[in-house]
Formats: sequence, structure tokens, C-alpha cells
Amino acid sequence: GKSSAFVVAIDGPAASGKGTIAKRLATDQQLAHLDTGLLYRGVGWAAVSANIDLSDEQALADLAANLNLAELESNKQLRGDQAAVAASKVSVLPAVRAALLQAQRRFANEPPAGFHGSVLDGRDVGTVICPDAAVKLYVTADVEVRAQRRLNELHTRGASDTTYEAVLADMKARDARDMGRATAPLKPADDALILDTTLMSIEVAYEQAVAAVKAAKEKQ
Ligand code: DC
Repeated sequence: GKSSAFVVAIDGPAASGKGTIAKRLATDQQLAHLDTGLLYRGVGWAAVSANIDLSDEQALADLAANLNLAELESNKQLRGDQAAVAASKVSVLPAVRAALLQAQRRFANEPPAGFHGSVLDGRDVGTVICPDAAVKLYVTADVEVRAQRRLNELHTRGASDTTYEAVLADMKARDARDMGRATAPLKPADDALILDTTLMSIEVAYEQAVAAVKAAKEKQ
């Protein structure tokens, strides 16, 4: 690419561990971090709040184009499952994806002052947003394991009114939508390192991620 920023692209399905790995890498390697899912959650949540139909592509693209990035981090409601489901629905729309593309590329290639590089996590970072990333990771795990992790997380947060079966069904529906859409579907880039955390602990997966980052830095 034309930029000299060091870019780490991390993709994978929900509750795979990609967010944890992205955050730790950002801190330990002094990289700026962008959780790209938060952008789609922001659009989904804004649409639900304003009663905009989740298939009104033009209205949703306008929301996406006018998203206030600074406000997303502090909005607790974006972390919930309602925002996640809305995000997954609006993210199938090509005009919404197009409206968010440049902001993501710009963050990657021109990270905020003080950072020599960036780590972005999402669904299409290695395939579409940053195809020239120095490091590409695809973090995944069997859907049953991811559903159990998600359930544990919900219980920890005090939301005990849901069942494993309900969480599993939601997770499968979201996977199918994210992997099955026509535009920028979730899939590993051809040159991604696959980290399957079904049986591997997050610590071991993280060590492999760090090793990949160090190897890429030495090649620079
Ligand atoms: O990573 P997450 O759970 O916050 O993502 C929520 C939804 O946003 C996900 O189901 C699909 C969409 N998304 C996307 O389409 N592309 C991305 N790069 C990130 C998220």
C-alpha cells in the first residue's frame, strides 16, 4: 500500500476471542485499535432508536455517513445483543458498507497521532478494508463453544434470563447472515493465520498472534 503504517487485521465470528486479542495486541505493541463492529452497531442502534426500517438502505447509509466515531466508545447500549442483531442486519447492505469503508481505511493507514500502526478487528478487515495488512489473523471457534462463552459472559453481567439454546440459535443466525451475505462476507483472507480457539486457550492464541506480529515487524 501507499502508507507506511503497520497494520494488523483480525477477523472472525462473534465470541471467537478476536476482540480480546485485538485489545491486548494494541496495548502490548503500542498500536491504535479500531473495533469495526462498533461502527455497524452504531448504525444498527441509531436505526432502532429512530425507528428506521432495517432494510431502508438509503436512510441507513445516511446514518452511517454521519456516524460520530468519538461517541461510539462511550455508548454502553452498543455492547448489547439488540445492537449486535441490528448491526448484523444493516451490515448486509452495500451502501452502508460503502459509507463506512473510507473511515476504516483511513484509521488503518493514518493512525491517530503517536501510533506507528493500527489493529482493526471485524469481519472483512483482511479481505476488503486492508488487503495489504502486514499481519492477518482469522480467529474462530466452533459455534457451540462460542455460544457457551457468550452465555457465561451474559451471566457474569447479571443477565440470567436467557438459555444456552437461545444464545446458540442467535449465534447461528448471525454467523449465517455474516458469512452468507453477497458483499464482504465473513471468511478468512487467503493469507490469514487461522487461530482456532475451540480447544486452544486464549493465552496460547495470543502468543501465536504476538509471534506473527513480531515476525512481520522483522520483515519490514
Ligand atoms: O464484531 P461485532 O459482534 O461487534 O459485529 C457486529 C456485527 O457487525 C456483525 O454481526 C456483522 C457486522 N460487521 C461487519 O459486517 N463487518 C465488520 N468489519 C464488523 C462487523
